[in-house]
Order: sequence, then C-alpha cells, then structure tokens
Amino acid sequence: MTLKINKVLVTGGSGFIGSAVVRWILAKTSYQVLIVDKLSYSGAYHTIERLVDNKRCRFFQIDICNKKAITNLLLSENPDAIMHLAAESHVDRSIDGPSAFIKTNIIGTFSLLESVRLFLKKMDANKKDRFRFIHVSTDEVFGSLGNHGKFDENSPYRPRSPYSASKASSDHLVRAWGETYNINSIVTNCSNNYGPYQFPEKLIPLTILNGIFGNPISVYGTGENIRDWLFVDDHACALMSVLHKGIPGETYAIGGDCEIKNIDLIKMICKILDEIYPNKKYKHEELIKFVVDRPGHDFRYAIENQKIKNALGFQPSYHLEDRLKDVVKWYVNNKWWWQPIWEKTYRGKRLGAL
Ligand code: NAD
Ligand code: TYD
Repeated sequence: MTLKINKVLVTGGSGFIGSAVVRWILAKTSYQVLIVDKLSYSGAYHTIERLVDNKRCRFFQIDICNKKAITNLLLSENPDAIMHLAAESHVDRSIDGPSAFIKTNIIGTFSLLESVRLFLKKMDANKKDRFRFIHVSTDEVFGSLGNHGKFDENSPYRPRSPYSASKASSDHLVRAWGETYNINSIVTNCSNNYGPYQFPEKLIPLTILNGIFGNPISVYGTGENIRDWLFVDDHACALMSVLHKGIPGETYAIGGDCEIKNIDLIKMICKILDEIYPNKKYKHEELIKFVVDRPGHDFRYAIENQKIKNALGFQPSYHLEDRLKDVVKWYVNNKWWWQPIWEKTYRGKRLGAL
C-alpha cells in the first residue's frame, strides 16, 4: 500500500536530526512540513531559517508538553503523520540534570500521544488508518554490549543512563498507546549519528571545534569504547522509508555498519584537521587528553541492520571514513552556524563528570 501523505509534522525539527529530516522531505517530496520545536539550548532557529523560506515549511515554537497548543495545532492543521524527534538528547547532561529528560522525553511524549489520541478521535476511520506516528529513538535503550554481538529489534531493554532510561520509557509509552488506542505507531532505534548542524556538546563536533581552537581534546576513560556511526542523511532516509513502508506496531533498528573505537575516531579527525586546517605549532593529536571516565559509560553499541535492509530496502550509503572529511570541512567552513552557539550557549565545558 502506498500512503497518501500531504503534510508531515516533525517535532524537534530545529535540532540536528530533525532538521535533516525536514531538509530531506523538502528536497525529495512535495509534502508540507510543520516544524514543532520549543527551541531548547540545542534547537537553534538559525538552523532552520532558510528552510522556512520555503512556502511548504512552517515553524511553530511549541513545547511538546503543552497539550492544549499541540492538540489545537493537530486539529487545525490535520497532518497525515508525525515524526517525533523532540527530546533532550545528551547523556552527559542527563547525568548532571535528569529532570529535563523526564519532563520532555517521558512526560512530553505522553502528552503528545494524548494530543494525538484526541485528534484521531475526531477523524474518520480512513484518516485514522492512514495516520502514522514515527517515534525516533536510540539503540542506547538496549544498554551496553561487550566485544561480541549486536543489538536488534528483539534485544531486551537495559538502559543505563538517565537519557537512555527516559528514551526507553518513551518507547514503551508509544507502543502502549499504539496498542490500546489504535494509533498506527512505529518505533525506530538508531545508533550514533554524525553530520552537519550537530550541537557541539557531542563527540564529533566538539572534537572538531576544540581542534580548530587548539583546546584540549577530551577522551573519556581509555578511549576504547565503541560506537556505530551513521551519517545523519542516511538516518533521515531510513526514517522516510519507515514512514512510507514500515508496518504499524513494528520496530526497526537502524545502524551504520560502522563501528570504531572513540580514540581511533578522534585520531582520524585530528589527521583530517592537520590536512585541511593545519597549525604550524602543533599536530592536532598533541591536543588529545585522557580524562576521567563518564559514570556508567556504555562500552559498545552496534546494530544488526538486517530487518530494515530486507523489509524496507535501507542501505547506509556512506561509510564514516569516506564521509568524515566532508563533515570536518563543513564545520571548518560554517562558522556562521556554530559561532553564535559557542559564544552564547555552550563553549565546550566538560559535562557529566560528577
Ligand atoms: P538535538 O538535541 O539536536 O535536537 C532535539 C530538538 O528537540 C531540539 O531542536 C530541541 O529544541 C527540541 N526540543 C527539546 N525539548 C523539546 C520540547 N519539550 N518540546 C519541543 N521541542 C523540544 O537531538 P538530535 O540528536 O537531533 O536527536 C533527535 C532525536 O533522535 C532524539 O529523540 C534522540 O533521542 C534521537 N536519536 C539521536 C541520535 C544521535 O546520535 N544524535 C541517535 C539515535 C536517536
Ligand atoms: P556522545 O557524542 O556524547 O554520544 P553517546 O554518549 O550518545 O554515544 O559520545 C560518544 C562517545 O564519545 C561516548 O563513548 C563518550 C565519548 N566522548 C569522549 O570520549 N569525549 C567527549 O568529549 C565526549 C563528548 C564524548
């Protein structure tokens, strides 16, 4: 069945992945897009300023916890689908201050689902049948892997940080509301993303900016921890195939088939900086500093992609080694994006060290 879609509402559409999803929709479909975002510290308006120049894209500054405002928006705009990405997204911040994570990720998702329930109550059976709620979650809900094995759709939930516990909770709420209130919902669990417009608290942009400024580059613990990296546009592409072809009630695990130790990734970034942003006084690797580990630091994440590959034809199109240089270049060349953030919001301070 091909879904008839005219309008998609993207929560968290001013953030890193949400804005990539909006860009993807505007470039590859004729759908209208409604961005709903409260513009928290990580949701910069200048990320989407050019996107809302497009007549098909409109921005609504709303907190997903505001049930009245969200319900009114759904009733007046009548979207065919919601891609839910609004969240507090950083593990280190969840260690320092978990309450914002409980509020947005759990209560906010609950409130959004309640708005969807009220909205769908007023719709006819055909609209209800066509409607899709795509809940964008993380592989971190499955906990930490050792050296072997991968997460897949059947992995047990074992969250170990306040962030992953709050996302696990939101996954359960979405599935329960789907079953109980007959909301066509799908949960996705994706591995670490990288790309342009990522808030510079996360490993890759932080390493690049510290490298540019000649600041120390922090490696938590031994640097042996492993992450599976997916280019953000590949994630956006996977999410759109889930929207178009995914089966309601199902879960799709999404990964990059690209595992690397943190220390090796950081050294790769340093080498790229030496090449495209050389400094006469030092090699960027000399900036690396091993620092006290993150409490409860998950050792390894890796995703088994078979289901989404076989069922929806998804294939990551970029490998980290081929794409990282372009991403580093993007940060070097797009100071207009990160400078206001670095000056006013976040300047690279270590978070979550207890
Ligand atoms: P981000 O922090 O860059 O963006 C989050 C966006 O949500 C921001 O624009 C922020 O303003 C908005 N937001 C926060 N609280 C809100 C609220 N109460 N109401 C409305 N808007 C609110 O995060 P991201 O990396 O783009 O992650 C997006 C989603 O993808 C999250 O749900 C995250 O859990 C999930 N995810 C992220 C990754 C990753 O590697 N970054 C991997 C897998 C899944
Ligand atoms: P991060 O980008 O915070 O993503 P996540 O915790 O969701 O995987 O961190 C990626 C990895 O890099 C994680 O193992 C922690 C580590 N890390 C560092 O070594 N140094 C840093 O400065 C940061 C921010 C993270």
